[in-house]
Amino acid sequence: MIDCILENNDAIYDLLSLRGYDYYTYTHSVNVAALSIGIGIAAGLKTGDVEKLGTGAMLHDIGKSAISHEILNKQGKLDENEYRMIKNHVFEGEKILRTYHREFPEEAFSAVLQHHEKLSGKGYPLRLSGPDIKLFGRITGIADCYDALTTQRPYKPAFTPFYALSIIAKETGDYDPELLRMFIRMLGKIK
Ligand SMILES: [Fe+2]
Ligand SMILES: [Fe+2]
Repeated sequence: MIDCILENNDAIYDLLSLRGYDYYTYTHSVNVAALSIGIGIAAGLKTGDVEKLGTGAMLHDIGKSAISHEILNKQGKLDENEYRMIKNHVFEGEKILRTYHREFPEEAFSAVLQHHEKLSGKGYPLRLSGPDIKLFGRITGIADCYDALTTQRPYKPAFTPFYALSIIAKETGDYDPELLRMFIRMLGKIK
């Protein structure tokens, strides 16, 4: 993560502005970056690519800073319009990064734009499927889902790593099986 920030000085300002806006999204972003970097290394990516992946993962939810606190932290069910606004965070993120973050690596945009896409085509915003979802999008998608499941939220408790993985593994067809295997192997090495 240090290398990501050294390569890309703007990343720290974006990350810290997110910290000031919504503390959960900030810690979630740091977690997703660490997990994604771990998967990227396990997948044998070159150092420069791991840095780009880490930068994209660190800022994958930067678009949430364009969503009101009420909607972001709403405890009850979201209505259709609120859900549409939440889903729009991926496009807001791209807009923020293209406007204010000139050095943001082009390859890292897939982490921002595609982390909610599913290989089955059931994700959002574009319902992409299979090979249309790029490697950084696939990796960040696994890390994103795992961190959300293992963290306590106003509407759910923190699930154990084992239970979270069993939920993810059940969604066969949504996640890249090879990357998922690498991810589980990586988690198995945690002391
Ligand atoms: Fe997201
Ligand atoms: Fe996320």
